[in-house]
Amino acid sequence: MPAISATAPGKIILFGEHAVVYGRPAIAVPVHQVQARVMIQAEPRNPSGCIRILAQAVNLDVWLADLPREDPLVSAVRGTLTALGIEIAPACTIRISSSIPVAAGLGSGAAVSVATIRALSTFLGQAFTDEQVCSLAYEVEKIHHGTPSGIDNTVITYARPVYFVRGQPIEVFQVARPFTIVIGDTGIPSPTAQSVGDLRRRWQVDPTTYDTLFDAAGLIAQAARLAIERGTPEELGPLMDQNHALLQEMGVSSLELERLVAAARLAGAVGAKLSGGGQGGNMIALATPESADRITEGLMAAGAVRTIVTEVRN
Ligand code: MEV
Repeated sequence: MPAISATAPGKIILFGEHAVVYGRPAIAVPVHQVQARVMIQAEPRNPSGCIRILAQAVNLDVWLADLPREDPLVSAVRGTLTALGIEIAPACTIRISSSIPVAAGLGSGAAVSVATIRALSTFLGQAFTDEQVCSLAYEVEKIHHGTPSGIDNTVITYARPVYFVRGQPIEVFQVARPFTIVIGDTGIPSPTAQSVGDLRRRWQVDPTTYDTLFDAAGLIAQAARLAIERGTPEELGPLMDQNHALLQEMGVSSLELERLVAAARLAGAVGAKLSGGGQGGNMIALATPESADRITEGLMAAGAVRTIVTEVRN
């Protein structure tokens, strides 16, 4: 049997992170410059049911059976087998590699889940639809961070810009004019579970204040969608700045994020904001093809450990 492989891109949230957990709309886009890749090879000499997991970059070489039940990989594999009604899988090796920085708000966990579920269902002869992949990956996301909105697994599965409202069918939309985003990584690892959990505790103490912030972020996401569909992406700059101010008020920014956001603006970004869970991780800046290099240099000079220039298009 030939090896089967599947890939999944990284992602950024353009507008509406955190508020999306509370039912407000958000916009996310794939980042194709980084990706997770999963390759599955049959091992007919091993006994049935023996699944070996290899992820060289993190020195992982284990039998699936030896991983804890709550491990996201176990959940992705078991969820796939259960959905296919397979009790004992043919012996195989699952090789995982990824260029997506971990705990940086770029969707590394969701991308490994999506690629694993997609590759395994194909390997087992019953390739899942995007809808099936997305819903199984969502179950895995719940292990990564208790109350995910589902936006990460959705944008990564469909690998195109999405306008997302929790619990509602995915809405894809037209990017009338492509635009450039520079991503800057603070290098501070920040698991989404942590920032989502911290904010939930603050919301529980003072729901009125935080619901008002979430409402405002939702309105910004709506306005941003219109600008993207109209082909006036320059309007996204001020919307990004406003969204960032709301995220500051939600308490999910950090000194390092503030430094990079300020540096991007100083270097000519039309707007900038943190992206994803915050408290570390990545920020994004709206650029033009001409200003992207200058913004990249500004971000590196201000302490970014990595930058990615990406173009948003359908
Ligand atoms: C993480 O990429 C985005 C958050 O809104 C969490 C979520 O939607 O599940 C912070």
